[in-house]
Amino acid sequence: MLSTLWLLAAAATGHPVLVPRVVVVTAFPPELARWQIRLPLNDELPFPGGAGQQNLAWNGSLGVLAMVTGMSSKNASLSVTALGYDPRFDLTTATWLLAGIAGVDPMFGTVGGVAWMQRLVDGTVVKYLDSREMPQDWETGWIPVHRDRPYGLPQPTPTERAGSVKLLNPRLVQWAHNLTQSLELPDLEAFRRLRRNYAPTFLPAMQPPSVQMGDLVATDVFWTGPAQAGWARNWTKYWLPAGGDVWGQQGVFAMSAMEDFAVAEALDALHRVGRTRGVDALLVLRAASNFVQPWPGHHVSADMDFFEEAACEAAFLAGSEVVRRLVARSSKPADLEV
Ligand SMILES: *[C@@H]1O[C@H](CO)[C@@H](O)[C@H](O)[C@H]1NC(C)=O
Ligand SMILES: *[C@@H]1O[C@H](CO)[C@@H](O)[C@H](O)[C@H]1NC(C)=O
Ligand SMILES: *[C@@H]1O[C@H](CO)[C@@H](O)[C@H](O)[C@H]1NC(C)=O
Ligand SMILES: *[C@@H]1O[C@H](CO)[C@@H](O)[C@H](O)[C@H]1NC(C)=O
Repeated sequence: MLSTLWLLAAAATGHPVLVPRVVVVTAFPPELARWQIRLPLNDELPFPGGAGQQNLAWNGSLGVLAMVTGMSSKNASLSVTALGYDPRFDLTTATWLLAGIAGVDPMFGTVGGVAWMQRLVDGTVVKYLDSREMPQDWETGWIPVHRDRPYGLPQPTPTERAGSVKLLNPRLVQWAHNLTQSLELPDLEAFRRLRRNYAPTFLPAMQPPSVQMGDLVATDVFWTGPAQAGWARNWTKYWLPAGGDVWGQQGVFAMSAMEDFAVAEALDALHRVGRTRGVDALLVLRAASNFVQPWPGHHVSADMDFFEEAACEAAFLAGSEVVRRLVARSSKPADLEV
């Protein structure tokens, strides 16, 4: 049935349908640049239906397609959906890699480090009371939509959790982490200067950059500061109780970014109509461009230390290692074959 559809699509456009093995998803042009230049992805395909206002980048002999979605959850989901319905492509066998930069919790990792995400928690659909107007004994004004107080009991039901949590495929994520865990990531003098400030409270922040695994909170807000970082840690634990899913362990807030949950949601919707393998075929790699809170004693400011280029480099180094393996089919473990 599917092959009939490809033929129809091909007939309608007069072009053969392209069958990417891997789709690399980025949110803004600096995240795409290294893939284009260094994988390389030299062919450009127009993509006016996406929100990124960038051409798709393609390498037919590798079978790798890369896109810029535009920042924010709405741009990410609408762009992935537009690609999913684009008759030029058959995406039913593709593995997807979201590779971008993010804020890192200094209790989890450090700038220049990367993490393969295990679970994605939505932090955008919430109830909110301003801290000046909420009850005095509350720790935060950010409340789960199905409750009337922060982290309100009872614990989220499986249905509620399904709406706010995306579980990535443990075998695929662990395989990607295994492949990259001994990678040496660039360590800059500027990283060392910044991370020294986090001593002695934040041990993970003080380590050199490395490849980790963790959980992500997605919001459309560039938030920063210890209060909101405390919320993100508690929110992750609330939604990901120990033993609550295939990953088993209680949630550990690692990174903060915008597009991840939305991309997973779009892939699942495309899966329901037979156009992708859904979130099961998604890898999310985030590279830390900044900490989500300043070091102890330092004032909170919207203008934080930010290492965009270095983080894009780290995301490419770890991500491209995995993409090269994914396209060299024989080196993929048998049970990850589609
Ligand atoms: C595709 O990748 C191969 C191997 O890296 C490279 O030699 C070739 O030039 C690339 N082609 C395009 C169109 O980017
Ligand atoms: C989302 O996409 C629109 C349309 O391309 C663009 O104007 C807007 O700046 C994007 N939003 C963000 C946050 O990048
Ligand atoms: C990852 O590595 C661990 C330890 O070497 C191994 O037990 C596990 O099977 C590997 N997982 C995958 C999916 O490759
Ligand atoms: C997070 O949880 C801890 C431990 O229960 C609590 O002390 C803290 O006030 C909470 N912070 C926020 C912002 O919710």
